[in-house]
Amino acid sequence: VTTSSTSVETIHFDMYDRELYASPYAMYRRLRDEAPLYHNEEYGFFAVSRYEDAAQVLVDRDTFISGKGSVYQIAAAGIDMPDGLFIFEDPPLHAIHRALVARLFTPRAISRLEPQIVQLFEASAEALVGRTEFDFVSDFATMLPIRVIGMLLGLPERDHAELRATFHKSQNENTASEQHESFSGTRSVAHLFNDYLDFRQANPTDDLMTELLNVEFEDAGGTRRKLRREELLTFLTLIAAAGSDTTVNALAWTGMLLGEHPDQRRRLVDDPSLAANAVEEILRYEPPSYHIARTVAAEVEIRGRTLAPGAIVVTLPGAANRDERQHDDPENFDVTRRSGQQLTFSFGPHFCLGASLARLETRIALQAFLARFPNWNVDRQASEMTKGIDTRGWDSIPVTV
Ligand code: HEM
Repeated sequence: VTTSSTSVETIHFDMYDRELYASPYAMYRRLRDEAPLYHNEEYGFFAVSRYEDAAQVLVDRDTFISGKGSVYQIAAAGIDMPDGLFIFEDPPLHAIHRALVARLFTPRAISRLEPQIVQLFEASAEALVGRTEFDFVSDFATMLPIRVIGMLLGLPERDHAELRATFHKSQNENTASEQHESFSGTRSVAHLFNDYLDFRQANPTDDLMTELLNVEFEDAGGTRRKLRREELLTFLTLIAAAGSDTTVNALAWTGMLLGEHPDQRRRLVDDPSLAANAVEEILRYEPPSYHIARTVAAEVEIRGRTLAPGAIVVTLPGAANRDERQHDDPENFDVTRRSGQQLTFSFGPHFCLGASLARLETRIALQAFLARFPNWNVDRQASEMTKGIDTRGWDSIPVTV
């Protein structure tokens, strides 16, 4: 590839551009080849698109911090976040808070949920049997992940719809003031958790809420104590917010990609044991995470350019996941691929805590759906994409079966 300075100047990567969002992969190739450290002056961010660079940024938590926000809008606006929202924290607090919540996401805890998840997803797919047209998102995917979080946390079913709507809204807001407002919205659903915490305090059981109410830990000041109510609410909001919209998008991409690739779908029908591998490929090929941001804490050089403290760097999982320096024939969607390392769930200290749960949900949804509908067509023209820049997926996918 010849790189002239003029071709670099003509690259214009705008995360808010809806056409690019709909179809970013040609741009990603140009970024990787011609501007691996891209600077957008209008918005004031740098973008890294190669796998190697993005992984390096995400793993080097001392140089590239999360404390200013791990989405661009928040980092750029300098919005203050409450303590305990550990996705936006750095050491030492991040490690303390993450460890508290991580004990609830052990493989054992997740596999205990599996039978309930299978039952719920099978029933949701079964409810569609007999219909010839429906919406893969609103009639199937939308409520499943929040219901799983409901199982995990023990949340009453009557609150699921409100929680889902609030988190969906907050992840589809683009401006700093909208983000700020929707963050207050997110805080306002905390009252649902609050009522439930009162109830669980009085009626302990073996769920996550009870465990979090009773867990003792050593805080940053060295004191052994239980979590304060405010901290608990922040954790619960974070888990529910991080695990609902993202996973709906993973399910939606499953419907879209297998709808558009009947040859790959046929391979899965013929060999159901490929399901887990297919999920990896779906997550690699169309990651539900659109960008992951960091802020430079100490002067650093990337690709020959020095970045000063305060610079915002966004990593692009979708670009890194199709980097031919990392994957063979990366533009090819192949459910039998041994895909190896990808950045859909980030990398390093903030690696998604819910990754195994999200993989499990996507696999079970795929199996439940495919068992009943071995053939379906998607109407991509009539489908509607999500509207934010944190995540990337679908609000509506009309299908015929
Ligand atoms: C396919 C679905 C999902 C995707 C694509 C996804 C993606 C991500 C990404 C990219 C991050 C890291 C952000 C960063 O590095 O700054 C993250 C963190 C996190 N995710 Fe997920 N996620 C998914 C599902 C879930 C689920 C189901 C849960 C829990 C129920 C969850 C809980 C979390 C939590 C608690 C964090 C914060 C970890 C930390 O900062 O240490 N996620 N997720």
